Amino acid sequence: EEFERGAHEHFMVKEIHEQPEAVQRVIRGRLDERFHAVHLGGLNMDAREAREIKRVKILGCGSAYYAGQLGAQFIEEVARIPADAEPASEFRYRNPVVERDTLYVAVSQSGETLDTLVAVQELKRKGGRVIGLVNAVGSSIAREVDGGVYLHAGPEVSVASTKALTNMAVGFAMLGIHLGRIRDVSPADGRRLIDGLKKIPEQIQAIVDTETELAEIAGRLAKHESLFFVGRTRGYPVAREGAQKLKEISYRHAEAYQTSELKHGPLALISPDVPTVAIVPDDELLDRNIGALHEIAARSGPLYVVTHPGVVVPDGAAAVIRVPKNEPELDPILLTIPLQLLAYHASVALGHDVDKPRNLAKSVTVE
Ligand code: G6P
Repeated sequence: EEFERGAHEHFMVKEIHEQPEAVQRVIRGRLDERFHAVHLGGLNMDAREAREIKRVKILGCGSAYYAGQLGAQFIEEVARIPADAEPASEFRYRNPVVERDTLYVAVSQSGETLDTLVAVQELKRKGGRVIGLVNAVGSSIAREVDGGVYLHAGPEVSVASTKALTNMAVGFAMLGIHLGRIRDVSPADGRRLIDGLKKIPEQIQAIVDTETELAEIAGRLAKHESLFFVGRTRGYPVAREGAQKLKEISYRHAEAYQTSELKHGPLALISPDVPTVAIVPDDELLDRNIGALHEIAARSGPLYVVTHPGVVVPDGAAAVIRVPKNEPELDPILLTIPLQLLAYHASVALGHDVDKPRNLAKSVTVE
């Protein structure tokens, strides 16, 4: 085990550092520079079938579900197909309506999560078309689906998912571009997004290179018993995943909220003891997001802002973490990376067993 971890103290941090290569592997051979499109040979779906899709429903559990939320947002925004994500654990029990023209997508690192596998089986029993975004080759879910996209993140050992999650998000982006280019996305937009995808590995590397700074910030965050993570639209799944990671490995209470919903409830809890990690991309909602940060600052809530270069945040923010800018639709993938390092270093600072958090398993293959 020591050998496999190499120079790293834990698998989680090793896997965080492996992400630039992992992303290279998932995009390799799949980007079509000539037609500004994406080739996903394993989908087993021709262009005519792809055009008939009326809806996309993504199913997964835990971090895979949050990756699914990112994916749904991307697919709906880019391919203009209504899309949403739902925990597979809920879907399988609620007797869902299965539609012929919906594309169901099961997303899983291990390919063995029982809730996701049973959701796939239930869908297939009712005649639904299901594809997989799966990391483990030949796993149960990979064998059950009608087609899919392998994520090629390599083996992931740490319970807290990092590189598999990033490759899920990149996998969904490729699926969205693929479907979009068959439908109404222009060659110019296809090219813009493909160029954006190609930049992701080096941009992840640039974030990972700021680890020392992030570790210092994490040490301060870890002192708080309870935290908020906020984001909206594209940034909301990022906030949810950031809160989930912190909870899983540092055992701090972290709650994710839509920034826009703060004023409808959680603002009551903001105080100097309750910091907010705010996801603030430089996009069309920037002014509104900054407005919400001022509301938090006015109540003396410590602000840890994850944002882009050049964004002006309220004076007195506890920390500003700047992430390289990509295309707006792809930015969520990069905004997630510093949150992995914050959760990791918070857990280390608190002296917890990072790779094997209490009460959690890497893959839940039972009811
Ligand atoms: C478990 C793990 C999570 C993971 C989820 C889904 O609950 O603790 O980290 O996100 O399963 O796993 P999968 O292998 O299906 O992606």
